[in-house]
Amino acid sequence: MKRTIETTYMGLDLSSPVVAGSSGITDNVENLCRLEEAGTGAVVLKSLFEEEIVAEMRRTQVQMERPGFTFPDTADMFDYVDTETGVVNYLELVRSARAALKVPVIASINCISAQKWTWFAREIQEQGADALELNVFLMPSDFEVENGAVMEARYEEIITLVLREVTIPVSIKLSPYFTLLGKTLAALSATGVRGMVLFNRFFSPDYDLEDLRIVPSNVYSTPAEMALPLRWIAIMNGRVQCDLAASTGVHDGDGVIKQILAGAQVVQVASVLYQRGIETVTAMNHRLAQWMSEHGYATLEEFRGTLSRDNLGNPAAYDRVQFVKNFRAMR
Ligand SMILES: Cc1cc2nc3c(=O)[nH]c(=O)nc-3n(C[C@H](O)[C@H](O)[C@H](O)COP(=O)(O)O)c2cc1C
Repeated sequence: MKRTIETTYMGLDLSSPVVAGSSGITDNVENLCRLEEAGTGAVVLKSLFEEEIVAEMRRTQVQMERPGFTFPDTADMFDYVDTETGVVNYLELVRSARAALKVPVIASINCISAQKWTWFAREIQEQGADALELNVFLMPSDFEVENGAVMEARYEEIITLVLREVTIPVSIKLSPYFTLLGKTLAALSATGVRGMVLFNRFFSPDYDLEDLRIVPSNVYSTPAEMALPLRWIAIMNGRVQCDLAASTGVHDGDGVIKQILAGAQVVQVASVLYQRGIETVTAMNHRLAQWMSEHGYATLEEFRGTLSRDNLGNPAAYDRVQFVKNFRAMR
């Protein structure tokens, strides 16, 4: 029996379900090559921020307004920008990563609106990105927004406008902060996105009690944080029209196996790469293959989603009944 840990994600073929999530580690080709060597199935590049794109457009506008300057209709905007900018560097990162790697290269944009910048997705595609991940970073703390539906419409608008620009698969990386999370995820999965990354992990503020100022806390996740995406991957398996990618709290091979049992197509890792090094991906792949061998599985498909809410035959395991049972048993 030939055993394989290969998988597909958004229509792309991956040699492993372990994907390097977007972080500072994936912002240079040297690390990306090391990740490929360690056995990562794909890489998600460090995000470019919407604000960087918009700022670059404004700066270019200033240049274009110089006396005597004419902007030809067919001109590529990037013929007119400084090559030292974040935007241009990002396109170079995409291009050089695609040239250096065999594994799929997923570019990433961190955005909060559908204003002005969405054309830039096409530039990323033209540099050879195999897919694009949209990290939509909307905190539900805007008191001017009337209701949740308005917020959800913003997500749909961003996706719709980006999908008009590109033919490569697009995924969306989301936070768990939605009213009726399950229904919202199902609705967003029907917009044409090919993947859904559950979940994004926001910057968490803490206080310095001496200086009375805000400092970052818990920059890296802990394995305990995996419970949230595990639950929601298991609930959404079979209820979304796209692939599911697990993110947050996966620090070892057992975490990878659990997320696949819940229904994940791939598992993204970031914190553990900082804490234990890029080589930890190799250990994750080994553990996955070893566990499959012990349990007689030849492919991921044979066990993917078997512990998901709908496949378990006991959906209450994810709901209130289990909560009541566990808390009654605790003394
Ligand atoms: C230092 C650091 C930088 C990150 N930068 C990005 C980023 O640019 N874009 C993004 O979508 N996620 C970014 N993330 C979030 C990770 O991709 C991931 O979603 C999150 O850390 C949870 O996964 P983990 O538990 O494996 O770390 C970053 C995480 C860390 C720790």
